[in-house]
Amino acid sequence: MIADSTIPTFGRVAVFGGIYSNHLALAAAIEDARARAVDAMLCLGDLGAFGPNPNKVFPLLRDSGIRVVMGNYDDSIARGLDDCQCGYTDPRDNHYARLSYRYTFAKTSPENREWMASFPSDIRFRLGGLSVLAFHGSPRRANEFLWESTTPTHFLDKLADDHEADVLLGTHTGLHWSRSWGPGRAYVNVGALGRPANDGRPEVWYAVLSARGRDVPDVEFVPVSYDHEALAEEMRCEELPEEFIETILTGWWTTCLEILPGKERAAGRF
Ligand SMILES: [Fe+2]
Repeated sequence: MIADSTIPTFGRVAVFGGIYSNHLALAAAIEDARARAVDAMLCLGDLGAFGPNPNKVFPLLRDSGIRVVMGNYDDSIARGLDDCQCGYTDPRDNHYARLSYRYTFAKTSPENREWMASFPSDIRFRLGGLSVLAFHGSPRRANEFLWESTTPTHFLDKLADDHEADVLLGTHTGLHWSRSWGPGRAYVNVGALGRPANDGRPEVWYAVLSARGRDVPDVEFVPVSYDHEALAEEMRCEELPEEFIETILTGWWTTCLEILPGKERAAGRF
């Protein structure tokens, strides 16, 4: 186990997943987390994507002292790459990913790009007696998709062994789920603040983790209500695709869903 006196220990922590430029949801989540008296707030990256005016999320994160892990999107924007490295394989997913990436890239300030370039690929902390590793996709690749229906527990256990952690935290798929196994071992996808969870409701999700001794952490998934109609209006003003707006309003994913495995795809409308 990694022993480092610089690794912080928390009793309760709020962890936010992909923000996707949804500054209204981020502001609501920060307020909600503060009311829960958390010791720290973390963000697992992908600050930009589907939403409007990407610069708006940066002061919210900075002013709240939120440490951010580098997501695939952040890495692309910071380094000026041609695409978001989202990891999609279907042409329709890539079409919409290109639209949102070009918009986000053009609208992100040089100062914010510079800050993104400083994000670490992971953040390690202790939750009570447990060692936690927070990353974006997986500990080995920012754009690796760890789906609930297709990720075997033995694979998660190997990732935990290889990276010397009890608890693994990620976000890249944007769908919240958790699994615990063995003594003290758990994987948590904290969800995403940027778009709803493809469940027909407009709330978005984050996770609060609390220490519970050397057992598994207590994981609470928190739905966040925010003014999603105001966000939709702002997206219209920015001439973002109507498909992205529909997702914000209805809670159903309309794009970037060809990558979903059968079980997760069947849970949605499209
Ligand atoms: Fe991502």
